[in-house]
Amino acid sequence: MSSKALVEKFERFLKTKLPVVESFHPHFNHAFGEMLDVGGKRFRPLLLLSVVESTSPLLIENALHVALGLEMMHTYSLIHDDLPCMDNAPLRRGHPTLHVSYDETTAVLIGDALNTHAFYLLSKAPLSAEIKIKLVSILSGDAGIYGMVLGQAIDCFFEDKHLTIDELTFLHLHKTAKLIAASLLMGAVICELAPETQEALYQFGLKLGLLFQVQDDIIDATLSSEEAGKPTQNDGHKNSFVNLLGLEGAREAKQKLLGELDTELEKLDAALSHRLKSIVNDYFKV
Ligand code: IPE
Ligand code: IPE
Ligand code: MG
Ligand code: MG
Ligand code: MG
Repeated sequence: MSSKALVEKFERFLKTKLPVVESFHPHFNHAFGEMLDVGGKRFRPLLLLSVVESTSPLLIENALHVALGLEMMHTYSLIHDDLPCMDNAPLRRGHPTLHVSYDETTAVLIGDALNTHAFYLLSKAPLSAEIKIKLVSILSGDAGIYGMVLGQAIDCFFEDKHLTIDELTFLHLHKTAKLIAASLLMGAVICELAPETQEALYQFGLKLGLLFQVQDDIIDATLSSEEAGKPTQNDGHKNSFVNLLGLEGAREAKQKLLGELDTELEKLDAALSHRLKSIVNDYFKV
């Protein structure tokens, strides 16, 4: 199955799995599904599902539940990232953000709900209890204090303060790369791949995630808000790769990381490596 077909499969699954909670709240269900429904690249679900498809395709249906949990976790991080107390962004995925369409209270609470519902989905996934506990451990760690939340805390705390390139790399590894590495690792755990393969995928994912955030920093500097579907030229106060290294420096860092990814891919078997290489080519063509 092509990446495009995998993403389409994920989109169909998502449409059928959005919860409908009975209550007299006028817009709770709609707000819950809104940011999931309006799009996004689905990069993290694609990574998870690609590992499963290349190694144990019969497990795809089971893995979809986990992929959706992962996308909910990511979507919560975006909703909170856009809040006035963080990046104060009115647009996301080409759509007004929840705090603009509704109010901040709704945006905070829907973020909370997406975060917790991610674990609800994991707990109910048609997989063994042993695998599910490993998935919970990875997602809670890499999206939480050992990953994304720590990264976001550093990103926000050090606005308008200088960081060294090593500190900036630490920031990007945590806020973005760990969840991307976790996406690959969760696919590997679902398929019970060998520990060496799991480790190789995680290490590849950290570099891929770093590249992803470097590219995101370049997008902020070079694309229009219409092209990006979110505000751009918005990182002025941030420690971004572009702010620290300049646009050319950020582009060089991207090329260097692309080279390092090729080296990491050599540690994986041919089917997996080929698949991941094609995703890298799709997402990071110059
Ligand atoms: C944006 O993530 C936030 C970062 C970690 C850079 P994506 O670029 O994956 O956003 P969507 O899911 O496509 O909207
Ligand atoms: C946020 O990074 C990454 C998250 C963990 C949400 P950014 O603030 O650069 O993401 P965008 O540019 O708003 O998508
Ligand atoms: Mg941010
Ligand atoms: Mg932001
Ligand atoms: Mg950004």
